Amino acid sequence: MCGIVAYIGPKDATPFLLEGLARLEYRGYDSAGVAVAGRTGGIKVRKVKGRVADLAAAVPARFKGSTGIGHTRWATHGVPSDANAHPHLDNAERIAVVHNGIIENADELRAKLAADGAVFRSETDTEVLGHLIAAHAAEGVELEEAVRAALGKVVGTYGIAVLDAEQPDRIVVARNGSPIVLGLGEKEMFVASDVSALVRYTRQVVHLEDGELATVRADGFRTFTEDARTTHRQPSTVDWEIDSYDTGGYEHFLLKEIHEQPGSVERTLGGRLDERFATAHLGGLNLDARELREIRRVKILGCGSAYYAGEMGAQLIEELARIPAHSEPASEFRYRNPVIEADTLYIAVSQSGETYDTLAAVQEVKRKGGRVLGVVNTVGSAIARECDGGIYLHAGPEISVASTKAFTSTVVAFALIALHFGRIHDLSPADGRRIVSALKALPDQIREVLAQSDAIAELAAEYAGSEGMMFIGRVRGYPVAREGAQKLKEISYVHAEAYPASELKHGPLALISPELPTVALVPDDELLDKNLTTLGEIKARSGRVLAVAHRRPEAKLADHCILVPKSEPELDPLLLNIPLQLLAYHAAVALGRDVDKPRNLAKSVTVE
Ligand code: AGP
Repeated sequence: MCGIVAYIGPKDATPFLLEGLARLEYRGYDSAGVAVAGRTGGIKVRKVKGRVADLAAAVPARFKGSTGIGHTRWATHGVPSDANAHPHLDNAERIAVVHNGIIENADELRAKLAADGAVFRSETDTEVLGHLIAAHAAEGVELEEAVRAALGKVVGTYGIAVLDAEQPDRIVVARNGSPIVLGLGEKEMFVASDVSALVRYTRQVVHLEDGELATVRADGFRTFTEDARTTHRQPSTVDWEIDSYDTGGYEHFLLKEIHEQPGSVERTLGGRLDERFATAHLGGLNLDARELREIRRVKILGCGSAYYAGEMGAQLIEELARIPAHSEPASEFRYRNPVIEADTLYIAVSQSGETYDTLAAVQEVKRKGGRVLGVVNTVGSAIARECDGGIYLHAGPEISVASTKAFTSTVVAFALIALHFGRIHDLSPADGRRIVSALKALPDQIREVLAQSDAIAELAAEYAGSEGMMFIGRVRGYPVAREGAQKLKEISYVHAEAYPASELKHGPLALISPELPTVALVPDDELLDKNLTTLGEIKARSGRVLAVAHRRPEAKLADHCILVPKSEPELDPLLLNIPLQLLAYHAAVALGRDVDKPRNLAKSVTVE
């Protein structure tokens, strides 16, 4: 949550800071600020409630400096306001700090600092850092020493960048639970919370580890630990193309990412299908066949859409490998003192690899001796590093707050895991081949669904004005309904409720009326008749029905229908979900919503 940028070099820092913040805005967008230090001495600060564009408008032309830090915020401590926006300063306005994360002992530190004369101007936890670092920055003390000493008193998570008016030849950064990336330029250096802010300037990057700090100067950097031991870090090269971080001619990142799915699914599958043995190769699992045979249960942990993708994954594992599998919100799991069993395999799911609840769940499992695999999109992220093994999605950078291509790739990854586990257990070669062929066909089938975007836009415009929408599906269709409802409410703010179709008559049927239409998942499988009966019950109560189906139901059962190509039954949910992404997208556009940056949300939730 929140985005950090910093620059040091021969140029004026402000243009990079503002552009970098605009690129990171998906991480948080309720307020933004920049601070620069330059040859004239002192620190200049501008910060505003609102978007980066509001900040850019508030920054005067004379706001220049060759060293600078910036921040775009998602409020945790204190409302979005000019005062609570970062950077935060000490009394003397010598030290400026931007921070992602949570300082857990902020109240205690604040009381002590205030007693010593610190004057607080915001409600944030971050402000204590500015005063604390200043308290350690006595005459002759290097900035890195002051930061190290201050962080020694802090309990919590952070990614920080610190600017010192008296040492403007350096920026000090630190990471503990919130990512910090250094970008290496020609006699200039960049810092950001993720590479999307840097790729236009450099492809050479260094990802700091948790517990690591760096002193960044125009001509290089030095990394070290919190106990002052020097670390040696080799730069890596960012291999995504620059246009992966642009809208590429689409009106929104979300639409671009929905349309990227044939390619992202191909990348998730890339080199992993073994046609000869009708299985999947997943080297990163770090588990041999003998160890896999000892697994009696699979528990999948993730938040939001990652949890729903995990529900689809659990069904795939149960069906193909016949291993009991269950998905649970990581945010709940970590607080309920879970029983960790030696013969259970835990799988953490996260697009960003930063979600704090998921990370904490992984740490809890590991602390109790459990084995955790990761299904993660962001290479080298905190969750990926914390897991004992796993597979990367290779879906490419996902910028829009609502997850689409990463969701689909997660389900594909689970299909590969289920196939691999299944072929080690009792899945026959014929069934293995059936799944391999179906996986290979997915990219073209997704293209077929995407070709209906205009028709789905018309339906979305018709349904978007409803007071709410019900999403229903049976068994494999239920996680599809949950994710469809999540997507609609997240970006269009239309209330949406997902229910198992079988449960409708046990209560929620009372809600059905012409004002509450139902999106019904109606795959052509063994439950088709049951689903058609449910549609009849809804129509009998004057409900409107939009069916997402393999075959068009009779007109008396559905007002509208979106047809989806048929896969194998186990993989049908993946394709049934794609039109629901388009439905949510077009509904949000029809309602004039801020599609890529929905209100109150941010892309990765790095706080509790
Ligand atoms: C998805 O559209 C949501 N923005 C949200 O539920 C998200 O999936 C969740 O916060 C988990 O994020 P992660 O995959 O990065 O861990």
